[in-house]
Amino acid sequence: MCGIVGYVGPREAAPLLVDGLKRLEYRGYDSAGIATLSNGSFAILRSPGKLSNLIALLEGSAPTGSTGIGHTRWATHGRPTEVNAHPQTDCTGKVVVVHNGIFENFAERRASLAAAGHRFKSETDTEVFAHEVEAVLSEAKDLEANDLFGAVRLAASKLSGAYAVLVASAREPGVLVATRMGPPIVLGIGQGENYVASDPVALAPWTKDVVFLEDGDTARLDPAGIRICDSDGRPQERPAHRILWDAVAAEKGGYRHFMLKEIHEQPIALAETVGPKVSLASGELTLESPLLEPDRLAGIERVLLLACGTSWHAALIGKFLIEGMARLPVEVDYGSEFRYRRPVVTGRTLTVGISQSGETADTVAALAEARRAGSPILAVVNVPGSQITRMADGVLATHAGPEIGVASTKAFTTQLAVLFLLAAKLRESRGLGSGLTAEERGALARLPKLAGKTLGLEPRIEELARRYHGARDFLYLGRGLHYPVALEGALKLKEISYIHAEGYPAGEMKHGPIALVDEHMPVIVLAPDDGWRDKTLSNLREVKSRDGIAIVVTTGEDAEISEAADEVLVLPETIPELQPVLSTIPLQLFAYHIAVRRGCDVDQPRNLAKSVTVE
Ligand code: M6R
Repeated sequence: MCGIVGYVGPREAAPLLVDGLKRLEYRGYDSAGIATLSNGSFAILRSPGKLSNLIALLEGSAPTGSTGIGHTRWATHGRPTEVNAHPQTDCTGKVVVVHNGIFENFAERRASLAAAGHRFKSETDTEVFAHEVEAVLSEAKDLEANDLFGAVRLAASKLSGAYAVLVASAREPGVLVATRMGPPIVLGIGQGENYVASDPVALAPWTKDVVFLEDGDTARLDPAGIRICDSDGRPQERPAHRILWDAVAAEKGGYRHFMLKEIHEQPIALAETVGPKVSLASGELTLESPLLEPDRLAGIERVLLLACGTSWHAALIGKFLIEGMARLPVEVDYGSEFRYRRPVVTGRTLTVGISQSGETADTVAALAEARRAGSPILAVVNVPGSQITRMADGVLATHAGPEIGVASTKAFTTQLAVLFLLAAKLRESRGLGSGLTAEERGALARLPKLAGKTLGLEPRIEELARRYHGARDFLYLGRGLHYPVALEGALKLKEISYIHAEGYPAGEMKHGPIALVDEHMPVIVLAPDDGWRDKTLSNLREVKSRDGIAIVVTTGEDAEISEAADEVLVLPETIPELQPVLSTIPLQLFAYHIAVRRGCDVDQPRNLAKSVTVE
């Protein structure tokens, strides 16, 4: 949802800004732009479309200057044109602004500023901020408002909504000011130079020491240091964090796409996620969170899982696991729905927020709502230090490493592994077991290897993609734990190949979707040997009786399947609770290879962004 980056120091800013934007492009790719300050004026270069267009522009004329800001856009207000690209400026061109978020009262403020003589050039809500800063600076009567720091604070006080803003002014060379309410801002601490970005991943090659701004904070950066104050203007020392992701982890490493690399990283991501949380020798759970201490769990009567998108699919699987293993009632909701109903939540509800990015606006708002109702908050998050980790009472990290491809893959399967461990921990707290059973720990120990073996199906999946990439619609069917897997498979296909796909509980097909089945409709049937296979196979026969094309994903081919299915993919088998981890992998690969065959932009699918920091 837009990426922002900034640099102040002795070096040329432009190459650094472009380098940072490359790592932020996953957040939006409708346009890109930079502004650098040299000899009292800004050079601004912007281009619609991908960052590569801006880079081509820069090859013609590289701007100089060692103070600069940059932006990659996911359009909200105004079409993705050059004039709507950021940085946006005030009337004089002396104030430049990049923004992630939405100013909800921008129309009203724009009208008021226009009536006062300000001339607007774009359709964006962002431009209003530049004019607000200009207005404050030109009307400044006291010392506070006479510098950029004070002017940004006053400008922000006139605007409502969600924003992360980075501003530079030609009147104060060597200074950047950032402020936020909602979307993230992280400051990177260097030696004689400092940085700003939307995500620590942008800063990875430059520094590992970062400071996250809290809601309402404003920060002033110059090459010598950083000053932060909170929304009341009180100076604040925000804690510094050490981010251990290396820059290499955010590169493609020889793969054609980030998504393919991330699919192939699943064995290692699973091992790294599970390793610190359990002793595979004894089965003892070592989930280090005070929230999961026996006395804190003793009063918990139900669990609420909140998430969006793929993470919501993980939550649906989490419900099966927690209810099945710990016998606790579980409710699952979308962040965007939960925040606007009047949910029944108490201090005896354990709320679990699940998010790859840790910054999805709807999930953040839903968790804040649960917190207001007195519920303790546990976060299952991949990005260290992200907003959800900071607002939670306890964190269970998925150590999947940076996930850059917009389609979530390794974050999802590691979420499933963590939810399995959480279910075991809750089971223990309810006196229904101690740690993991021998069978469970054996299964967890073998999981990374089996994930690797599942990846070995790729040539066969490529073949299926070649055969079916022309289909207009797909149905995905699954029962029990495999119903959310069906939803996830359909989402992957939709988002990167633009093929219409629906996931359904296999037993629901006869209540409607079966009307869609004809000889052109491929139906992916998830039928592992999990206790419901016979029922799912009956649904398979219903598909075949209507001439549908049946692609069966199973854990053991038998005569019945061979006879009824058009195509069969046989997966390695594990315990039912962990089987979704393996069953998801072929669906990811299938979506990937279909998208490649259709010439789609796999890592940056149209209209999407990796982190959705607006409502
Ligand atoms: O970062 P989060 O897990 O909170 O993101 C939630 C969704 O936006 C995300 O899973 C989205 O659905 C992905 N594009 C799915 O591949």
